[in-house]
Amino acid sequence: MLAYIWQYFYSFFLRFCLKWLLRQLTGRCELQRICSGCAPGSVRTTRVEYSLKNSKNKVLRDAVNMKVDVVKDCVAQIMREKNIMEQKDLVFKVSFQQCLLQISGYNTLFASVENLRKEAFDSENQQHEEMLLKLWDLLMPSVTLESRVTKQWGSIGFQGDDPKTDFRGMGVLGLVNLLFFSEHYTDAARRVLSHANHPKLGYSYAIVGINLTEMAYSLLRTGALKRHFYNMVTGEPQLHHFHQFYCYLVYEFDQFWMEEEPDSIMDFNHYREKFHEKVKGHLLEPEVALVLNVDPNN
Ligand SMILES: *[C@@H]1O[C@H](CO)[C@@H](O)[C@H](O)[C@H]1NC(C)=O
Repeated sequence: MLAYIWQYFYSFFLRFCLKWLLRQLTGRCELQRICSGCAPGSVRTTRVEYSLKNSKNKVLRDAVNMKVDVVKDCVAQIMREKNIMEQKDLVFKVSFQQCLLQISGYNTLFASVENLRKEAFDSENQQHEEMLLKLWDLLMPSVTLESRVTKQWGSIGFQGDDPKTDFRGMGVLGLVNLLFFSEHYTDAARRVLSHANHPKLGYSYAIVGINLTEMAYSLLRTGALKRHFYNMVTGEPQLHHFHQFYCYLVYEFDQFWMEEEPDSIMDFNHYREKFHEKVKGHLLEPEVALVLNVDPNN
């Protein structure tokens, strides 16, 4: 315990001394050094975030939890706190603001995703119903649904006669994700569905799709997607960026599953975890940008 406390103070002290020394030598603070020393992207934004979180100054620490609409004011305030002259460091303001937009944008994105997840599928909601029927039409263009509640849903991998019971913990987010993939990558989605209906290697397309929504959601929630979004999006990431990541997951999971040739769907847990680890590994790479490599429609 004592050793732990000692180590904590030691690293704290060392970091403080090093920062002070560098400030004396370069005449610039840590944030300025990061912003001038790194190209835009995950390395720069992650370092800025770390520096802010570990700052002694409350204004700086609070900056990691700020709302997107106050980013500009916050930049000005921090520049005053740290005595950074705009004329002396022309790139700082722009780069720093970009980092803050990415940091606060990530939190905003999570809030929007969380709202969709909390919204339960509701058969009385016309919009929800339309999305569901559209999903069917995109995946099964040559088959007409005989009724709203029918065994036919099984052919796109729902469990019961009424898909509404299959969304569970993922709510409307699960449906929006499935629909986004079918709408923007229709050919790829139909290909994945045909694999899912494979006589030996098959799996439940929609159920697995909803399960991968949970994977994407929890990666977002834990912050594991930060590097990916900091590299992919210059400003604030939007909902469609999350949906794009979901498309990557579904497509890659299907490839993975077909290559691994599991004995049966009973092994789903095992292969899901194996795939999950693989994705988490990629997400730790500084240059990570996970994009689906197939042409979108149009
Ligand atoms: C997804 O699958 C895993 C492993 O089988 C399971 O623990 C989890 O609850 C599933 N999530 C959803 C939303 O179905």
